[in-house]
Amino acid sequence: MESATQKWNHSVFSLLYLFFIYAILYLLHSNVLLPHESHLLLRIKKNPPHPLRFRPDGTFKILQVADLHYGNGPTSRCRDIPISGFRHCSDLNSTWFLRRMIQAENPDFIAFTGDNIFGSSATDAAESLFGAFRPAMESGIPWAAILGNHDQESTMNREELMSFISLLDYSVSQINPSVEELSNAAKTGKRETIDGFGNYNLRVFGAPGSHLANSSVLNLFFLDSGDRETVKGIRTYGWIKESQLRWLYYASKRSQGPKKCTNRSLSPLTLPTPPALAFFHIPIPEVRQLYYKTFIGQFQEAVACSSVNSGVLQTLVSMGDVKGVFMGHDHKNDFCGNLDGIWFCYGGGFGYHGYGKYGWPRRARVILAELGKGENAWMGVEQIKTWKRLDDDNFSKIDEQILWSSDHGRE
Ligand SMILES: *[C@@H]1O[C@H](CO)[C@@H](O)[C@H](O)[C@H]1NC(C)=O
Ligand SMILES: *[C@@H]1O[C@H](CO)[C@@H](O)[C@H](O)[C@H]1NC(C)=O
Ligand SMILES: *[C@@H]1O[C@H](CO)[C@@H](O)[C@H](O)[C@H]1NC(C)=O
Ligand SMILES: *[C@@H]1O[C@H](CO)[C@@H](O)[C@H](O)[C@H]1NC(C)=O
Repeated sequence: MESATQKWNHSVFSLLYLFFIYAILYLLHSNVLLPHESHLLLRIKKNPPHPLRFRPDGTFKILQVADLHYGNGPTSRCRDIPISGFRHCSDLNSTWFLRRMIQAENPDFIAFTGDNIFGSSATDAAESLFGAFRPAMESGIPWAAILGNHDQESTMNREELMSFISLLDYSVSQINPSVEELSNAAKTGKRETIDGFGNYNLRVFGAPGSHLANSSVLNLFFLDSGDRETVKGIRTYGWIKESQLRWLYYASKRSQGPKKCTNRSLSPLTLPTPPALAFFHIPIPEVRQLYYKTFIGQFQEAVACSSVNSGVLQTLVSMGDVKGVFMGHDHKNDFCGNLDGIWFCYGGGFGYHGYGKYGWPRRARVILAELGKGENAWMGVEQIKTWKRLDDDNFSKIDEQILWSSDHGRE
């Protein structure tokens, strides 16, 4: 009898012990014992509907967020704001501004054009990226980002940053084109690579139900303009390299190839070339010339570009499809100016933890593409407009202008 009781006690103990182990494993698995953020990494990424496309009302609206400069969240202080507001101002003000923009403008796509996080004051790059992109991730709106010169100054290098960003909810960011695509672009037959991280092309399809519903009618090009470089012993900013321009030219020509028209009585017919927009962080040297030309918006600080001119403007001009380029980097510039038929527009500083100009509200740019109306359906892009919104009491809408318009949309 006694030995049976002992056995029984022993098995109760074993059961309890097993239960204890299971409980620990369960808690670990459900992240009760792990830091909060890692829970997000274990989840499956949420994807927006593919591909990007115009709305049934024939519009596609892009919100450009330039220089969000997110640090550590509530402990990162605002810069260049009135002293009176200093105590209650942090990265969270940038978050609120982003939510305000998303709510008011209801964009179809958000483009973050670099210096998304202010690496030098972010103790953990992953935490900071979650903080920076949270409003976009929560909105369910497709979004994409490229890197500036400050993003990699925390705990991730540029490759890690772009991989991480491409895995966040509703992100359509890509790291780089495939080796196959790059080899086709170079036509060398060798395995080719590209400089930087975050060079990619997104296509926006026509309105649902229209004859362009399965065709790209607007192309978006994203390029990595690098961070810092040393040229002949002198420190300067990064620039877009030859390998990137070669791919860009190829990607543009590929989407301009002749397409068979569905209208048999007119075949073969080349559809009008879809207009394109390009996004990169560091302005090109020619942007300086705009100071002596006409521009719309404010030109309030020197263009902090690279000392190297790699021929970006010539490539863009030779492509023929790029109508607008959207940049960041210089927070106190928010103008659009035209170089050789292409508009170069700054977003204007968005984030409160980045430098700004005292008394000059933080701001964001909106880009609206509109389709032309055919007899009974939407056609290609007819017009591209832009304006800015200020994070002031009136949420002021300023500097509205038409960047491009075409008769092609009407055919
Ligand atoms: C930052 O947000 C707080 C809380 O909403 C607000 O009181 C403060 O005025 C904001 N600061 C700036 C500079 O917008
Ligand atoms: C677009 O593709 C869908 C799905 O393949 C098809 O049902 C539709 O007819 C296509 N529309 C046009 C205009 O080609
Ligand atoms: C095809 O093109 C002809 C000539 O422009 C036009 O009359 C006809 O309506 C078109 N058909 C379709 C289906 O678009
Ligand atoms: C907001 O709008 C009102 C009324 O139009 C105007 O009086 C005020 O100066 C504006 N404030 C700002 C900050 O633009």
